[in-house]
Amino acid sequence: TQKVIFDTDPGQDDAVAILTALASPEELDILGIVTVAGNIPLSLTTKNALKLLELAGRPEIPVHAGCERPMLRPLVTAEHVHGQTGLDGPDLPEPTLTAREGHGVDFLIETIRAHPAGTIRLMALGPLTNLGVAFTKAPDIAARLKDIVLMGGGCFECGNITPAAEFNIYVDPEAAAIVFASGAAITVLPLDVTHFMRSTRARIAGFGDLGNSSGAAVAAMLNFSERFDVEKYGWEGAPLHDPCVTAFVLRPDIFTARPVNVEVETGSLLTRGMTVCDYWGVTGRPQNAHWVRSGDSDAYFALLTERIARLL
Ligand code: BDR
Ligand code: CA
Repeated sequence: TQKVIFDTDPGQDDAVAILTALASPEELDILGIVTVAGNIPLSLTTKNALKLLELAGRPEIPVHAGCERPMLRPLVTAEHVHGQTGLDGPDLPEPTLTAREGHGVDFLIETIRAHPAGTIRLMALGPLTNLGVAFTKAPDIAARLKDIVLMGGGCFECGNITPAAEFNIYVDPEAAAIVFASGAAITVLPLDVTHFMRSTRARIAGFGDLGNSSGAAVAAMLNFSERFDVEKYGWEGAPLHDPCVTAFVLRPDIFTARPVNVEVETGSLLTRGMTVCDYWGVTGRPQNAHWVRSGDSDAYFALLTERIARLL
């Protein structure tokens, strides 16, 4: 089993990423879930993480609330995509579980230091604030991680919250810049791949037809989060971003990637939060990330569906 920690702002697509991991105990030992402000404010991302653990019947996994705002900027949220709760769609009960004592950033630092170097994979599904703060407080932990697998950025597909920037990077570009400069091993699942992982009617029905509560919840979530993106892009089905992180950790063979240099624009108003990915190696800047360019969407949805089927 691989030891993993989620850093997340659930979010329907974060939810599917987490549920898929919860359904994969043979491969993944989830040490904890750290929440961050992003799609919605922190109190709601934390509540949503707890709801997911209750849905999947995994109350033993600790949830720690992390940062409630980006390192330097006011928070930008995305209720227009995810709804007021962040998890609109299914009717999940209010959680009885509560978040654990201790700030999410301290949980990250302590947990990464407590485990042997090179053993923990950090799965980042939201703005990178918690990691930016953790690496600033405790620079030693970057090299102790096995790697960071993150959803964020775009190169060939440009941005989604501005023409240049993808949401997770845009919300906290300073934190993202710290992460890319940290020396940690990083794999990026950008819009270049997630835009081609689309939740068509048939794929959503595949979750709904599983006959379990989790499958019904996933179908309801995707039916909700679809409506905005389908209108925006004019595609059949909306991109299902964050589960690409879990799928990459479980089945890297589904994806193709190459080593690149990535730097994050933090200054320009026009392009703030842009991931400047040197895909063709024209600068000679050092490679600091693996950039995923494509993936097999049928294999991706088959994997997600097969895993969600295992849950309650
Ligand atoms: C990312 O932004 C959020 O709205 C999603 O949860 C995903 O992490 C996609 O740009
Ligand atoms: Ca997210």
